[in-house]
Amino acid sequence: MMVANGKGLLAMDESNPTCNKRFAQWGIPQNEETRRAYRELIVTTPGLGQSISGAILYDETIRQKKKDGTLIVKSLIDAQIIPGIKVDTGAKDMAGHAGEKVTEGLDGLRDRLAEYFQMGARFAKWRAVIALGDGIPSRGCIEANANALARYAALCQEAGLVPVIEPEVLMDGAHTMERCCEVTEEVLRTVFNELYSQRVMLEGLILKPNMVLPGLTCARQETVDEVAEATVKCLLRAVPAAVPGIAFLSGGQSGELASARLNAMNVRFKSQLPWALAFSFARAIQQPALEIWHGKQANVSSAQQALQHRAQCNRAARRGEYNAAMEMDNREIALYDVSSV
Ligand code: G3H
Repeated sequence: MMVANGKGLLAMDESNPTCNKRFAQWGIPQNEETRRAYRELIVTTPGLGQSISGAILYDETIRQKKKDGTLIVKSLIDAQIIPGIKVDTGAKDMAGHAGEKVTEGLDGLRDRLAEYFQMGARFAKWRAVIALGDGIPSRGCIEANANALARYAALCQEAGLVPVIEPEVLMDGAHTMERCCEVTEEVLRTVFNELYSQRVMLEGLILKPNMVLPGLTCARQETVDEVAEATVKCLLRAVPAAVPGIAFLSGGQSGELASARLNAMNVRFKSQLPWALAFSFARAIQQPALEIWHGKQANVSSAQQALQHRAQCNRAARRGEYNAAMEMDNREIALYDVSSV
C-alpha cells in the first residue's frame, strides 16, 4: 500500500530543532503552536491522498490535535494516508571517528514501537547519515549504522510496523557522482547483509536511499538522465529483488530536480525493475508551501495548493509522466494567490 497506485510518502517528521531551523529561515516563530499549525496545514491539504500514501510524523506531531480537537493521525487516516513515525533519536558524533555520525535510538525502542502502533502508526523510519570527505566514510561508521538500521527493522517487524530504512549518503562536498555511486553501493550492500543477519523480512520493508548525485560543489554536475542511469545501476547491484519499494529522500535537491530525476528513472527503466521507484521527500515537497505560508493563517490555502502541486508532480514522476510544463502552470497560480493575500 505504501508504494501502490503511483503514490509515495510525505516526510513531515522534522525533529523540533530541524523544524525550528526551517521556520527561522522565514522568520516564522519557533514554538509548539506554530509547528502544530504547520502540520495541520499539511494534513488538511485537499486531495493530498491522491498522491500521498503515507506520512511520516515526529513524536510531537503524532500526539497533536487540529484546532477542532481532532487528532492529526485521525485526519490522515480519514484522508486515506497511512500514518508513520520517525523513531530514531538522531545522528550523534561517533566516538573515535572524527566527522562521522552514528544514529541512536535503540534503547527502549520495543516499548516505543508498541505505543506508536497503538496510536495508529503502521510504519516507521530510521535515518542514518553517511558523510563523504577525506578518508570518510570509514568501515566502522558504515557497519555501526547498518547494524543499528537492521536491529531497528527487526523490532519494527516484530511490532507490526513496516520499517523504512534510510541510509543517506549526503550531498555535501565536492565529490564526484562516481564517488557517490561507489559509497552508496558499499553502504547498501552492508545494510542488506546486516538485514539478513538480523532476520529481517525483505518483502516487508521500504528502502529510502539517496539518489546517486555529484557533490553540491563538484564542478561537474551530471544531467538528469545521467543521474537516473547511475542511480538505477547502483541500486540494481545492491538491492535484492524481494524488496517491494524504493522511496528516495530528496536530500536538499530542488523540488523540480527531484521530480525530474525520479521521472527519468521511471521513463527509462520502470518496466525492467523488480521494485517500485517512489519518493519519500520532505523538502522537495514542502519547501514552496512553507515559503508561501510564512506562519500566516491567510496564506494557508495558497500554501496547500503549492504542497498539492509538488505532491502531484511526484505522482506524475512515478508514472514517468512529469514534465516542465507542469511547473509553469503552477507558477502562474502561485504568484496570483500570493499577491492576493
Ligand atoms: O530524514 C529525512 C527526510 O525523511 C527526508 O528529507 O527529502 O528533505 O531529504 P529530505
